[in-house]
Amino acid sequence: MTKESKSKGSKKLRLDKILSHLGIATRSESKKWVKQGRVRVDGQTVKDSGLQVDPEISAIEVDGQAVRYREFVYLLLNKPQGVVSATEDRYDRTVVDLLEAEYLAFEPFPVGRLDKDTEGLLLLTNDGKLAHELLSPRKHVPKTYEAVVRGEVNAADDAAFRDGVTLDDGYETMPAELEIVRHYEREGEVHSDIRLTIMEGKFHQVKRMFEAVGKKVVFLKRISMGPLKLDPMLDPGQYRELSEDELQALRGESPSSV
Ligand code: URA
Repeated sequence: MTKESKSKGSKKLRLDKILSHLGIATRSESKKWVKQGRVRVDGQTVKDSGLQVDPEISAIEVDGQAVRYREFVYLLLNKPQGVVSATEDRYDRTVVDLLEAEYLAFEPFPVGRLDKDTEGLLLLTNDGKLAHELLSPRKHVPKTYEAVVRGEVNAADDAAFRDGVTLDDGYETMPAELEIVRHYEREGEVHSDIRLTIMEGKFHQVKRMFEAVGKKVVFLKRISMGPLKLDPMLDPGQYRELSEDELQALRGESPSSV
């Protein structure tokens, strides 16, 4: 939304654009509302929808209701299986298709990728800078996954993951932390519930790490990314905005864990 800034430090935008970007109305509805005298800026009714306004400084009201301005939106989604981590796709539903119009107006995108059959924590935002920092390979943001693995995950796998394993393309993984939760039989085969924390995000990394030790991931769910934790109140497909504490923690400001 800063594209139209007229001068350095000022974030003036057309009034109709502000209202439409906030998802309050379409651009043409915004124009109509302004013409109808329903919109006030700093207490004055305005009649020009092209009026340049700095929404961070000016108080905007529609029908007497204050409009809360923000440039960015941060959404914590419990990604369900069967949707792809993209903003558009020719064949599949995307995570963005799960969002309501009021959020779509911000044009959020997923921060990183979960496979189509992976569930769990996915952050969506339009804050490119924060997304870039979270995804930067230099930042080593830890990501924890819960998985069901076919086979008996054991101490040797733990040691291998701690040392780093070689993926099918020759890549040597960084040390990862494995927690073996339990073993049990399913359809006549031993399975393991595990948690794995990795500090990087190579394509299909968790599945390929288990392939490297001769085992298959049959279910995968991300439960944390950096300080963010999957909210148990969110069913797959549900999402909510990040709290202030979560956002601060994500930006490394404080509190360290939420
Ligand atoms: N590792 C995988 O293999 N798949 C994911 O979706 C995420 C991490």
